[in-house]
Amino acid sequence: MGLFNKAKRDAAGFCAAATAVAVREGEMTAVKVAEQRLILTRQQGEALAFSALCPHAAADLTRGELHNGRVTCPEHGYKFDVRNGRILYPSDETYRLKRYEVKEEDGQVWVKV
Ligand code: FES
Repeated sequence: MGLFNKAKRDAAGFCAAATAVAVREGEMTAVKVAEQRLILTRQQGEALAFSALCPHAAADLTRGELHNGRVTCPEHGYKFDVRNGRILYPSDETYRLKRYEVKEEDGQVWVKV
């Protein structure tokens, strides 16, 4: 997992987070953008960004696992769909993974933080 820390921001408020090639299908890339710790991934070709802090009790999701678009928290095993942030397990909880708007431009992945 790569770690990038860039601060370049465009007029629309997107920050350059990583090179596009560093964000690989089904893998997690940890980045720090505007003091926020995020995870970038690519699902079915689309770049996605979500908070590296679990919404349950702020565990570090970079230590979790990502399979089939689902991230599993290493602390209590909660599972979230990274495509929409919805909790998948346990089904009686309402926590939601914080996601960020993403665009790809000029060979970079940009995140609106
Ligand atoms: S801190 Fe992630 S499931 Fe509890």
